[in-house]
Amino acid sequence: MKKKMRFNTKAIHGGQILDPAYGSVMTPIYQTSTYAQTSPGKHKGYEYSRTHNPTRTNLENSIASLENGKYGLAFSSGLAAIDALLKTLSPGDEVISTNDLYGGSYRLFKTIFQKYDIKFHFVNMEDIKNIEDKITKNTRLIWLETPTNPMMNIIDIKSLAKLSKKNKILLCVDNTFASPYLQRPLELGADIIIHSATKYIAGHSDVIIGAIVINNKRLHEKLAFIQNASGATPGPMDSFLTLRGIKTLHLRMQRHSENAKKIAYFLKRNPKIGKVYWPGFSDHTNHKIAKKQMKDFGGIVSFIPKQSNFKTAKKNDVINLEKSLKYGDRISGHFVQGHIDTTSRIKKIDLVGNSWFINFNLSKRYKKYIIQKGSITINGVSLTISKIFKDGFQVVIIPQTLKLTNLIYLKNKVLVNLEFDVIGKYINSFLK
Ligand SMILES: Cc1ncc(COP(=O)(O)O)c(C=O)c1O
Repeated sequence: MKKKMRFNTKAIHGGQILDPAYGSVMTPIYQTSTYAQTSPGKHKGYEYSRTHNPTRTNLENSIASLENGKYGLAFSSGLAAIDALLKTLSPGDEVISTNDLYGGSYRLFKTIFQKYDIKFHFVNMEDIKNIEDKITKNTRLIWLETPTNPMMNIIDIKSLAKLSKKNKILLCVDNTFASPYLQRPLELGADIIIHSATKYIAGHSDVIIGAIVINNKRLHEKLAFIQNASGATPGPMDSFLTLRGIKTLHLRMQRHSENAKKIAYFLKRNPKIGKVYWPGFSDHTNHKIAKKQMKDFGGIVSFIPKQSNFKTAKKNDVINLEKSLKYGDRISGHFVQGHIDTTSRIKKIDLVGNSWFINFNLSKRYKKYIIQKGSITINGVSLTISKIFKDGFQVVIIPQTLKLTNLIYLKNKVLVNLEFDVIGKYINSFLK
């Protein structure tokens, strides 16, 4: 039965153990820390909810089933999943990673694990030779994201799987931005999949959760040990919400991809836009690989407006913003989830009326750039650098409906990185 399920059916039923108590069709929320034992050590497979919980088990099975993997493990966040995986390494081990990497992963690698003598190399993985050059006898892990965020680079998973196997190195793919609907790295030869299930998998901005999927039994045992020993596990309510979100994953991903395609072509035709980054364009560097390894091209588009040069900056045309302003999900209504990734930290956030005032500290790395005051308005969302401090700057955001994931200063240009979802209202107004 399991083998015959197609993806859409798996999203609803995959890996699910029907509730043995009453046959409830939705997985119950087993909101309990511990379980009654008929005599010491005699239980029904569940002793303590850090170690196992039936709601979590169903979630772990569901994500494993979507990725066509044998074992799934759920964590209290995507970063907790990444943290657990890195704990399988030992001092002296080396990791080769992509240079266009989620900022939180980079921060974890550089500020925490590097301290324990794990060495990280960051290379452009579009060219496999760059990876080969960094392989040493200590390399244990190749770490990639594809598509990368924000540059939408596509990395060839199959070729990297061949290279990693040849060198007996594990290949890990952070599959957050594709989701298993669009791309299944284990089928392409990867060893490990990581998810920030907070994003597309859960899909409703109401949970922070992470996952690992693997086929290797020993690695599963090792990771399950770390999951329990370090204890960053999700609660039953979060596991339930994620399971519920998964039931529409296929529909959401299809619509995300359709919407992003419309916007990508719209932007490409727009005379005010310079470069658009979207792997669906036939002139995208790795379009052919994207076509081969993904079912569709996903829900993220990045672009550089023309005149996004500091010198030519005009009001309502450009924001002179230094580093990634990354809004994990939403700038809309009264809710901002914001962080400026590895290098620049949010110092203070104030909400006054409908406007957000966010003060950023700028790290040393970016101090060489000039920050200027300026504004950009995109479809009714205005972002302004309103104040410059000695060590940072203040941004004022007046949000409406736009989801904006990144604004990045890039080689004297500003990169705007938008995330599209099924909010038709926004898409329609943008296309007018
Ligand atoms: C690609 C990627 N991986 C991992 C993470 C970390 O996940 P979480 O925020 O659930 O800890 C994120 C979060 O934005 C992400 O974008």
